[in-house]
Amino acid sequence: MKHILDQLEERRAVARLGGGEKRIAAQHAKGKLTARERIELLLDHGSFEEFDMFVEHRSTEFGMEKQKIPGDGVVTGWGTVNGRTVFVFAKDFTVFGGSLSETHAQKICKVQDMALKMRAPIIGLFDAGGARIQEGVAALGGYGEVFKRNVVASGVIPQISVIMGPCAGGDVYSPAMTDFIFMVRDTSYMYVTGPDVVKTVTNEIVTHEELGGASVHTTKTSIADGAFDNDLEALLQIRRLIDFLPANNLEGVPEWPTDDPADRAEMSLDTLVPDNPNKPYDMKELIRKVADEGDFFEIAEKFAANVITGFGRIEGRTVGFVANQPMVLAGVLDADASRKAARFVRFCDAFGIPIITFEDVPGFLPGTAQEYGGLIKHGAKLLFAYSECTVPLITVITRKAYGGAYDVMASKHIGGDVNYAWPSAQIAVMGAKGAVEIIFRGGTPEEIQVQTKAYEDRFLSPFVAAERGYIDEVIMPHSTRRRIARALAMLAAKEVERPWKKHDNLPL
Ligand code: HXC
Repeated sequence: MKHILDQLEERRAVARLGGGEKRIAAQHAKGKLTARERIELLLDHGSFEEFDMFVEHRSTEFGMEKQKIPGDGVVTGWGTVNGRTVFVFAKDFTVFGGSLSETHAQKICKVQDMALKMRAPIIGLFDAGGARIQEGVAALGGYGEVFKRNVVASGVIPQISVIMGPCAGGDVYSPAMTDFIFMVRDTSYMYVTGPDVVKTVTNEIVTHEELGGASVHTTKTSIADGAFDNDLEALLQIRRLIDFLPANNLEGVPEWPTDDPADRAEMSLDTLVPDNPNKPYDMKELIRKVADEGDFFEIAEKFAANVITGFGRIEGRTVGFVANQPMVLAGVLDADASRKAARFVRFCDAFGIPIITFEDVPGFLPGTAQEYGGLIKHGAKLLFAYSECTVPLITVITRKAYGGAYDVMASKHIGGDVNYAWPSAQIAVMGAKGAVEIIFRGGTPEEIQVQTKAYEDRFLSPFVAAERGYIDEVIMPHSTRRRIARALAMLAAKEVERPWKKHDNLPL
């Protein structure tokens, strides 16, 4: 018996070594951790249960039968994050560059199936060179199996991808269909085809970083929702994110203990909005002052920063914050901001996370660049996303709520449950100057001045909307957290009936 036990330990030791000490050292030299080291950091200490450690590929092409490494380039299994079950797979770059073979794909599919069956989140750690070139179409088939499972699980369990090295070819499309993608700065990049192929096909000369580094995907393409300085920071932040997320679409948001009183008043909010309506202020200050302990996990911070999206908690329970940011482009809604916010709103709605909207928006951004870029379609995404929500929607208008953007930002008319305004709110079709110049075209400067003042007095306040019941209450800024906490408690039992449909037809 002892002999058999020793044999198991020996086989385990070989599998744990992956592609061998030399390749592990090379991985470390690049500032990257190995797949197993990453899993150790991601999960609660000692909680990882590995599956399929001894699985090997079955290829006999190009002498592959002589090169077999147990595990076949991906480490899979499950464990816990702060006591809550998650499933995980981590590409092992030390084994055939983490490339995907038929059996490698089967290992991933097994944990995808398990995660869906157990209704628990799944996290993929990517560091891989795409399809196993020696396997050809068998690898392509494997990718297809993984992709299909990503789609079936979408909206049922949270799926998170962390790009921690190269991520090329087939490896980019599975992350692209998950809920969130995060990258590690300087060591990770994502592209469908790498710089060599780009040069051959288009004569364009680019570096890995220029083609698909974290700076590209967090600022230009919005493919990545955030980037971290190194593997350790990335994994610790993913643990933090998991703490905000429900396990699935039916379980409801997690609840964590908090010492932050729900009725905490923030007197400084009474002076957050400057007297000059054209002066910016930082909307993140409001989010941090409202959320439990100021804890805010921002999503897509570096992309379309004129809108802010992210998770926080009220009374220990997760909420999604969507807010216009007056510090960037005056908080205007453009195509990118609309698309970013729409995706976040849909995630929250799919997973039963109430949405708090802080609104200070001068409208949609005019101009040919925006119109040619499909502003109508992208703006419609946000309108659509809010309108289809069945989760509790609470809106607080802090200052401007102009034009179509007033309707879009979770107004009462499209489903806002509790809509508050601060006394500084200005709810109108447009700003006073623009409005008067249209109504009194050709008027003398004196007339324009008088009418502008009259317009401001009448319309640039929350009271015209409040008189119609479009605003439930005009509230003191310092009481915002208490008001939101009470509204959330009241809305906890919210139920909405919708007609049966196969699925909607979101303007993509
Ligand atoms: C088999 C691979 C591999 C692959 C890397 N390796 N990619 N083995 N199939 N796709 C192996 C290498 O042979 C090497 O093995 C080890 O992994 C490390 O690779 P290096 O090239 O030495 O590392 P590095 O210089 O860091 O470059 C990493 C890389 C590069 C940029 C990822 O390896 C690369 O370009 N690989 C090919 C990428 C690619 O074109 N993949 C196919 C995409 S097509 P040894 O034994 O020396 O350690 C695709 C289609 C699917 O995925 C589409 C579905 C929709």
